[in-house]
Amino acid sequence: MDTILVVDDEKNYLVVLEALLAPEGYEIITADNPEKALQLIRETDLDLVITDMKMPGISGMDILEEAKKINVDIPIIIMTAFGSIEMAVEAMKKHAYDYIEKPFKNEALKLTVKKALDNYRLIKENRLLSEALSDRYRFGNIIGKSRPMQEIYDMIKKVSQSKTSVLVTGESGTGKELIANAIHYNSPRKERPFISINCGALTETLLESELFGHERGAFTGAVAVKKGRFELADGGTLFLDEISETSPALQVKLLRVLQEMEFERVGGTRTIDVDVRILSASNRNLKDDVAKGLFREDLFYRLNVIHIEVPSLRERSEDIRLLANHFIDKYHAEKNGIKPELSPEVWKVLFNHNWPGNIRELENVIERAVVLNSGEIITAESLPGYLLKEEDEINIEKFLPSGAPLQKTLEQIEEQLIRRALKNCNNVQSHAADMIGITKSLFQHKMKKYNISV
Ligand SMILES: Nc1ncnc2c1ncn2[C@@H]1O[C@H](COP(=O)(O)OP(=O)(O)OP(=O)(O)O)[C@@H](O)[C@H]1O
Ligand SMILES: [Mg+2]
Repeated sequence: MDTILVVDDEKNYLVVLEALLAPEGYEIITADNPEKALQLIRETDLDLVITDMKMPGISGMDILEEAKKINVDIPIIIMTAFGSIEMAVEAMKKHAYDYIEKPFKNEALKLTVKKALDNYRLIKENRLLSEALSDRYRFGNIIGKSRPMQEIYDMIKKVSQSKTSVLVTGESGTGKELIANAIHYNSPRKERPFISINCGALTETLLESELFGHERGAFTGAVAVKKGRFELADGGTLFLDEISETSPALQVKLLRVLQEMEFERVGGTRTIDVDVRILSASNRNLKDDVAKGLFREDLFYRLNVIHIEVPSLRERSEDIRLLANHFIDKYHAEKNGIKPELSPEVWKVLFNHNWPGNIRELENVIERAVVLNSGEIITAESLPGYLLKEEDEINIEKFLPSGAPLQKTLEQIEEQLIRRALKNCNNVQSHAADMIGITKSLFQHKMKKYNISV
């Protein structure tokens, strides 16, 4: 719902404008003095300001300037007395959206208001789009504007210049391979090969010959010499994915190569030297594996000179909007037609899901929805059933003592939900309100109730 602030020292006009605009589906806030107006502009997430020009104390022009300082894009409609055209011209120069002369015709006012709001919506959409494209919000193919992602971008920039080993950890689907790629393609080795191997997908003997290669006749079926990935990656980067899955025997062999940068092919005696940068990844906590004796400590320290921990999507839910829009662009581009938008209900489902499969899961959900959808709006019907059936049933047995007082407990939960939504949305109140499915004004009301300021 769009929120409109109407400012006029003549209370009659406030009543008239509210009566005229509220039935159109707008939320109307009024101020009969400029000080109150400025305070509301600072504290409320507004979509439009309609202000009288001539008021005692601060003029409509001051309000215009002040509001533009807070939000340059917000549309402002100035009401001027009949005949004061110079003032109107002045206001337009200061980027008022439009002016309207008093007394105005109801239909003309409604139309101007609608145009201003439509225009503002477009500006906001374009901003979102250019945000998606802006370098601050992406690093190569990696998308994300949250603080932890910005820190990862900085880290990639720093570590790509050296040959240091980097261990990337994080849940499945968080983008570990994407990060390893970015490190290589930003490094001085970028013209040389980036070779990757999934240590979890091969048996021990196969993995060994894949890594180190083999001589002819090394084992049954070794009919020709085969170069291993270490040799293929010479001068470039070798990415050891799922490193936690290597056997103890192979861990010893890897340790030697990492220390000496030399090895022999399976079945061979000749020592081969290579110059390879090692990146590795795991979705397990390797340190725990070391503590449990499952992973060699000395190898762990070789691999983990620099550690990049990739946060799960639920820990950076403010990126959901950007990522979802990015994937809509990506999969829509493969289809013809108008770029679809997600319905508010779909956004709510996306914000509430806890994404165990992280970005891979989100990408799959959006791809499916774009493929299934044929209209301009993607509705909940295009989401997979498991997302819709999901009702977060709160297990009160687990969390609450049996004598928990109802009112106080509900309020505590409410306060925590509000705070978390704000945090996850970078303090953008309208996004936070969307996320937990209430209106912006109710959200702001609750912030006040719990003394939450941003
Ligand atoms: N930040 C991101 N921006 C855009 N796409 C992403 C991002 N993170 C992941 N993806 C996409 O999600 C998918 C999974 O990413 P990736 O393979 O790098 O994850 P992973 O952490 O290596 O997962 P796994 O542990 O399952 O191997 C890929 O299609 C990748 O392009
Ligand atoms: Mg991976």
